[in-house]
Amino acid sequence: GYDISSLLKETGNVTFDTGFVNTAVCRSDITYIDGGAGILRYRGYPIDQLAGQSTFVEVAYLLIYGELPTADQLGEFEERIKRHTMLHEDLKAFFNGFPRDAHPMPVLSSAVSALGTFYQDSLDPFDAEQVEISTIRLLAKLPTIAAYAHKKSVGQPFLYPDNSLTLTENFLRMTFGFPAEPYELDPDIVRALDQLFILHADHEQNCSTSTVRLVGSAHANLFNSVSAGIHALSGPLHGGANQAVLEMLEQIKASDDGAETFMKKVKNKEDGVRLMGFGHRVYKSYDPRAAIVKDTAHTVLEKSGSSELMDIAMKLEEVALADDYFVERNLYPNVDFYTGLIYTAMGFEPKMFTVLFAIGRLPGWIAQWREMIEDKETKIGRPRQIYTGATERDYVEIGKR
Ligand code: ACO
Repeated sequence: GYDISSLLKETGNVTFDTGFVNTAVCRSDITYIDGGAGILRYRGYPIDQLAGQSTFVEVAYLLIYGELPTADQLGEFEERIKRHTMLHEDLKAFFNGFPRDAHPMPVLSSAVSALGTFYQDSLDPFDAEQVEISTIRLLAKLPTIAAYAHKKSVGQPFLYPDNSLTLTENFLRMTFGFPAEPYELDPDIVRALDQLFILHADHEQNCSTSTVRLVGSAHANLFNSVSAGIHALSGPLHGGANQAVLEMLEQIKASDDGAETFMKKVKNKEDGVRLMGFGHRVYKSYDPRAAIVKDTAHTVLEKSGSSELMDIAMKLEEVALADDYFVERNLYPNVDFYTGLIYTAMGFEPKMFTVLFAIGRLPGWIAQWREMIEDKETKIGRPRQIYTGATERDYVEIGKR
């Protein structure tokens, strides 16, 4: 039993919506999704046009400031970011405090919270200049932090950023390069990773973005709000699905079962097994990002020559798209179905997959946090509850319990 009479008296109505399935918590001009029609647009621009023609830094500008930049505006934005890619030497020491086998996600979120301790001059959420410099610092430093988290986990030396490179080039070099050795960038890999960052850059009120807004609604600074978002993203139901897809494909490869046998298990719901990378809470048709990722997967995997897992993935998709079980339930590949394969072919280990997601999602978190702070309608996020505990009872002395 439960008693909602006091809540009803206070509010006039009560909405019980545990997963916010049907509750809008803000108005937003940033991202539009039509899950039924498979549409995703940033600031009105279709995702396929942005992924095909834009760059990640340009998309970050679009999400944060609302319009595509002119060539001058973009050049200036890129230069400002480049001036802030280095980490304070004392922040670098921070990485040594973690165990060598630490997962890079908590390292990432801890380093982002720590940024606030280094930049105490720019923490006021209502000072536009301070928000602006924090925005640039975050965009510039997250790839450096992410690369260092990786270097720490493999016991290799850190590389200073090379500001003759773009953000994505710099990140690849700091992750896979070695000091004093030239690092050869492959333009196809750079383009593919930049495109994947674009595809992940925003997805309206998903779990991590809602977290960033909720924490920020208490007027917590941008660094702390983004750090909380990184924690939310670390959950396997949110950012970890691509790793699960890869494990599923490896399992199918290692077993005697082919794709068809595995799919029978999925349909019979044996041991709760699901086709990972399929289905989405919002998209009830083909995830528009998945179609683009599939093309990218072909390009990247052709280069690495490791196509066996890709063949299994394509076979699974083919079987699913022709099967009533999946068709009736509107189950199509989501963005994560092919990304793990691409990241592996690029040389990233599975632990880094969610970190890559975080780098991509950062502009969205920042844009949404800024919109929330500037919105006069924003109130501190404070959900209500339906109390289901004990009714009033008298305290019993400890000796009499
Ligand atoms: N494989 C097999 N069956 C599935 C799958 C799947 N991947 N997803 C859903 N179903 C079935 C369910 O068993 C259920 O069938 P039933 O009606 O016979 O019981 C029906 O489809 C509806 O499923 P729900 O779980 O109610 O759908 P919901 O919208 O809550 O879940 C989710 C969405 C979590 C993404 C789900 O599809 C899933 O678990 N997918 C696999 C994990 C995954 O890829 N997650 C990444 C999401 S994308 C991202 O976060 C970036």
